[in-house]
Amino acid sequence: MNTKKQGGLAGVVAGQTAIATVGKEGVGLTYRGYDIHDLAANACFEEVAWLLIYGELPNQDELHNYQQRLISLRHLPSTLCKILELIPATAHPMDVLRTGCSFLGTIEPEAQNHTAQNIADRLLAIFPSMLVYWYQFHQTGKQISTETGEKSIAGHFLHLLLGKAPDETTKRAVDVSLILYAEHEFNASTFAARIATSTASDMYSAICAAIGTLRGNLHGGANEQAMALIERFTSPDAAEQGLRQMLAEKKLVMGFGHRVYSKSDPRSDVIKAWAKRLADEKGDKLLYAVSERIEKLMWDEKALFPNLDFYSASVYYFCGIPTPMFTPVFVFARTAGWTAHILEQRRNNKLIRPDADYIGPAPRKLIPLLNRGPSS
Ligand code: COA
Repeated sequence: MNTKKQGGLAGVVAGQTAIATVGKEGVGLTYRGYDIHDLAANACFEEVAWLLIYGELPNQDELHNYQQRLISLRHLPSTLCKILELIPATAHPMDVLRTGCSFLGTIEPEAQNHTAQNIADRLLAIFPSMLVYWYQFHQTGKQISTETGEKSIAGHFLHLLLGKAPDETTKRAVDVSLILYAEHEFNASTFAARIATSTASDMYSAICAAIGTLRGNLHGGANEQAMALIERFTSPDAAEQGLRQMLAEKKLVMGFGHRVYSKSDPRSDVIKAWAKRLADEKGDKLLYAVSERIEKLMWDEKALFPNLDFYSASVYYFCGIPTPMFTPVFVFARTAGWTAHILEQRRNNKLIRPDADYIGPAPRKLIPLLNRGPSS
């Protein structure tokens, strides 16, 4: 057996899905049959969330009602505000979302009249309010109102964060990034959500498992780490030198490589175009140039391509989003994909419980504690 292939379940088909294809020959990334480029060019995030969760694109009335419903679900219960105020300013924002989600599960638990779809709507609507309430409370001491009048989740988040209505380009850039981040088949966090779901656990537990899994640097945390890398350099030449050093030391370069894609990540060209547009609009002369140099070097030296996380980092930077919030923005989006998978798992559930190859000691007899000598 090829142990390298076997590691990390690489190449293992772990189930069926009707939600997305990733890296299929000639198709790339599709959500419910729609190409990601088509969705990123012609839809808004709420349309895509509906598509993922309900299976078809909404018509105008459905979308309008859905957007209104999400707007009505943005408010924070007072007990949740208290919890957010108690979470230290030094906490990682991913831990804030995980804790907030878990707490919400105690005051608005899943029940017959509060279904997984109701909870998905609530989480999609409330996560930006939750994150920015905590952030502003600790930055400014203010207990902010989470009413913004913004129609979209992207607009609502940016408005709360920046304290004013965002411009249309910034809003659309984040909206497109949410579309790109919304779903990605059996990635680690989605698989974690499906495992939790397969035990007949509740929706909040599955989402908390997913958030905890997304937090890692090899998964969602990579966009934060990519920013830390890019902003370290003062010129493209310095970036090239630094990268050569990292590669010589066999260090991982965050935002590059992918388990499934072998030649390119189809989302990367879309987000790269937004990074370029924002860099031009903001008069950036450094970040984008550094990013492109890193991209070229990684391709020339390692045949590695940027994944979605790499250029998302500079897009979020140009939009005024603090780096520790990059992965939480991923959560805002992926909640749609996680929900679609939780519902799909429930419709045809079987406990997920694989086997393992045992490599430990052969069977042996226990020596009573008093007779055991010193350990060697
Ligand atoms: N930087 C440097 N080298 C990398 C690399 C990166 N980002 N990604 C892969 N490689 C190298 C590995 O070191 C390995 O080299 P080796 O064969 O000499 O040991 C080879 O490419 C294969 O990588 P491997 O770790 O086996 O691939 P994987 O499928 O297990 O990992 C990722 C996929 C995404 C976890 C990996 O590419 C990575 O860690 N990327 C950085 C984190 C990141 O951007 N995550 C977001 C993913 S969307």
